[in-house]
Parts: sequence; structure tokens; C-alpha cells
Amino acid sequence: MAKNDPMSAPTSTLQSAPVPAADGTPVRGRYWITTFGCQMNKADSERMAGILEAMGYTPGSDEHSADLVLYNTCTIRDNAEQKVYSYLGRQAQRKRDNPHLTLVVAGCVAQQEGEALLRRVPELDLVMGPQHANRLDTLLTQVESGQQVVATGEHHILEDITTARRDSAVCAWVNVIYGCNERCTYCVVPSVRGREQSRLPESIRLEMEGLAARGFREITLLGQNIDAYGRDLPGITPEGRRAHTLTDLLQQVHDVKGLERIRFATSHPRYFTERLIDACADLSKVCEHFHIPFQSGDDDVLRAMARGYTVDRYRRIIERIRRRMPDASITADVIVAFPGESDAQYRRTLALIEEIGFDLVNTAAYSPRPNTPAASWPDQLEEAVKVERLQELNALVERIARQRSSRYLGRREEVLAEGVNPRNDQQLMGRTRTNRLTFFPAQRPDGSSVAPGDLVTVQIEETRPFSLSGSLA
Ligand code: SAH
Ligand code: SF4
Ligand code: F3S
Repeated sequence: MAKNDPMSAPTSTLQSAPVPAADGTPVRGRYWITTFGCQMNKADSERMAGILEAMGYTPGSDEHSADLVLYNTCTIRDNAEQKVYSYLGRQAQRKRDNPHLTLVVAGCVAQQEGEALLRRVPELDLVMGPQHANRLDTLLTQVESGQQVVATGEHHILEDITTARRDSAVCAWVNVIYGCNERCTYCVVPSVRGREQSRLPESIRLEMEGLAARGFREITLLGQNIDAYGRDLPGITPEGRRAHTLTDLLQQVHDVKGLERIRFATSHPRYFTERLIDACADLSKVCEHFHIPFQSGDDDVLRAMARGYTVDRYRRIIERIRRRMPDASITADVIVAFPGESDAQYRRTLALIEEIGFDLVNTAAYSPRPNTPAASWPDQLEEAVKVERLQELNALVERIARQRSSRYLGRREEVLAEGVNPRNDQQLMGRTRTNRLTFFPAQRPDGSSVAPGDLVTVQIEETRPFSLSGSLA
């Protein structure tokens, strides 16, 4: 189905009369999107912003004066979900004084709660799950006809031919697989994001070519479990393996002209292959950064989580990566205080972090989630244990990150300039190939300015746990 084709653009208007712009195009009003959660949600928000702009909305300057407010929500942990309700409470209040306000809840809380959200916040106009992001225009048209709309049914995700409104002009996300077929016992993602749906390599490549032509220099390929890419697509190679894998995809998109860097996330240790490691080492645009959550350093906890690998398998993956790419950065996610986790098991997680030497670890205390097995297990740990473990863990993560950062001191690093440092407009910021945030002067020694999108060499003079700074070499 063609979406946002100018020929089929919705012509109905919101309750408030549209104001024509100087060039005659109708202006629907100002929109505001707040995004919670992961990169998938950020990518969805960019596409939804593109759809709103194609419909005639313009970006608003703040959430309290916008005509359409969209919260793209996350429910990975209880605190993420609760945050949404407090934001919604304020908007519901505003809607009572301003009935023309359009209130939308998208994303994972919308999918999880569905109709129940309307009962909780009757002021809502639209509740839409992540699989419906590309249908925002159709759904808003229904809202305009006076309905309250809930779109949370299982849905085949349509190829999106609209132009996303990207937050960056240099780095872009490209979804390659939606959903997740794993059943990690703590995780709400499969129930809110649905079954895996891989995009065709040709569509992915086409989108990447379009982005490169518009000046983007770096692309991050996205999937909740990106190693699953292609397993729902048909085809077997003459050697008997499946025709579409992440490795094949990287090889197929690597020569897109104009791109400097390709990244991908998130990797799953159960499916991560040696073939992929070799491809990353051999393909020059693929950056030496691997985000491979390990979740726990204890085999019994991993089994209870249904993760499908052992700590030893995880170690071997990292060893292989480092054998081929000695300077690669390794980042991960970890959960502490999973139901039944003993002190000794928790200490194995700390030990693994020390042993591997992670560049960064996203940490979380276990949070019971609706419709997940672990939430109903009897051996839940107390809040105090969660807090204590998380604090100790965070201190360790920072100490290790500081050590890892210090290896850059005195080195010359290739940095892709992304934009101005919001805290110092004399500086730009960008990232190393290994994804370390790096600050450097906006002007070269010869007086010329560095522009976002330029690749520069930075002589690293200062290191902090999660960032670097230096001068232009
Ligand atoms: N697909 C990725 C992660 C998706 S969710 C993977 O398989 O690793 C992002 C992170 O949130 C997870 O890696 C996990 O560390 C954390 N997380 C997920 N569910 C959680 C829960 N119930 N409580 C605490 N942290 C959780
Ligand atoms: Fe959640 Fe596991 Fe899927 Fe990751 S792989 S999204 S943790 S179920
Ligand atoms: Fe959150 Fe949904 Fe992402 S629950 S982490 S926004 S997939």
C-alpha cells in the first residue's frame, strides 16, 4: 500500500481549522514527540515525525503548547512505564482546557495496556502499538473523524516509503528486523513487539543508499536480536545454510557509496557466529564495536533466564572478537537481583565484568513485568538487595570503563564529527570507531572549521570513563 503518496494524502482536517502556510500547504498545527526507551523507539519516533510532517504538521517548540502530543513509550522496567503515566497526567489536565489537543500514546506501553489505557486516561485520542508506527496517518484520520482509536492488533509491518525526520544529519538508524522470537523469562519485548519480521536486503540497501545520498555518513542497523536477521526469509544457499543472515546483509550493503561507517545492535550471544566476526574484521566500514548483552555471569541464572548460552560461550565469543580485532570495544547489558539470584551468583557477574573489561555496561535491577514467567516466581528479592547490588555494580562498571578509556590517552583516533557540544559551542562532538564519545575543537589549527559529517583525526589528551577529549591532529 502506498502511504503518504501526495495523491492519497488525507484531506480531512483536525477539529481546529488548518492555517495555510505561506506556500499554500495546509498546516495542521504543531506536534511534539517525547521518546522513551531503546533505539527501536527512537527510530520509530523519527518515522512518525516524518509522517506527521508529510501530513502538514510542523515541529513544536515545547510539549505544553503543541497541538498534537505523542508519547512513544517503553515498558522494559516498571519505572519506565510509571514515567509515562506522570507525563500523561499533565497532558490530560491540559486537554480538559483545550479539547483541540490531540493526545497519542505509541510504543510498548500502548501495546501492553491497549484499551486499559483509555480507561485510565479517557482524554487519549489514539493508543497505538509499535507495529502500527508506519500507519500513524491512517490512524490519525480515524481520530479526526471523531473516534478514540486503539491499534494494537498483530500487524505485518509495511515497508515505510515516507521519509523519516532524522534527529541527526550524520548518523541514522535503519531497522533490519522487527520483533523478537526469544522468550527470556524476564522480558516484555516479545509480547509488545511481536514476532520477528525481517526486511528484505534490497529494501534495506535502498534505504541506505537514499540516506548516503542525503549526506548521512554512519548507519546503525537495528534489531532486538539482530543475529536473528533473515531467519524468517526464504532461501537456502548451495552449501545448505540459510540465504539471509546478518553476515550476508553486511556484505550486501557494505559498498553503499558515501557511507563511512556501519554499526549494528543488539547482538545475542546464543546466535553470534564466527563468520560474523570474520566479516566485521574484513569489512572496513563495519566499526569495531560490539554490543552483546550477557545479563548474568552465572550459568544457573542464565538458564533460569532462558538465555540459551553459558558464560563460557560468552567468553569464547569475546576472545574470538579480540583475536581478530584486538582494540574492539565491548559493551553489554546486565540484570542484577533476578529472582533467586544468590550473593555468590551476583558476585560471578561482577567477576565477569572485571575479567572481560567492558567499555560500558547498561545495568538494571530486575523488575517484574506483566505476562513474563519470572514475574510470578516466588523467590523475588527485596528492594534493598536490588538497590545495594545495583550501586556496587555501577561503581565497578565505572571503574572498568575508566580503565578502558585510559588506553586512548596519547593515541590518534578517527572521529566522525556529529555536531556541536551542547555544553561548549567552541567544540564539536563525535565518536571513535569504537563508539567512545569524543570532544574536540570546532576549528582546525589552520583556522578552517570542521563540519558535522567530516572525519577528523583527534589526538586524545583527556580521558573520562565514558568520554574523551583532544585536539585536532
Ligand atoms: N534484545 C536485547 C535487549 C532488549 S531490552 C537483548 O536480548 O539483550 C534491553 C535490556 O533491558 C536488556 O538487555 C536487559 O538487560 C534489560 N531488561 C529487560 N527486561 C528487564 C527486566 N524485567 N528487569 C530489568 N532489566 C530488564
Ligand atoms: Fe528480550 Fe530476550 Fe528478546 Fe532481548 S532476546 S528482546 S532480552 S526476549
Ligand atoms: Fe522499551 Fe519497547 Fe524498547 S519496552 S526497551 S521501547 S522495545
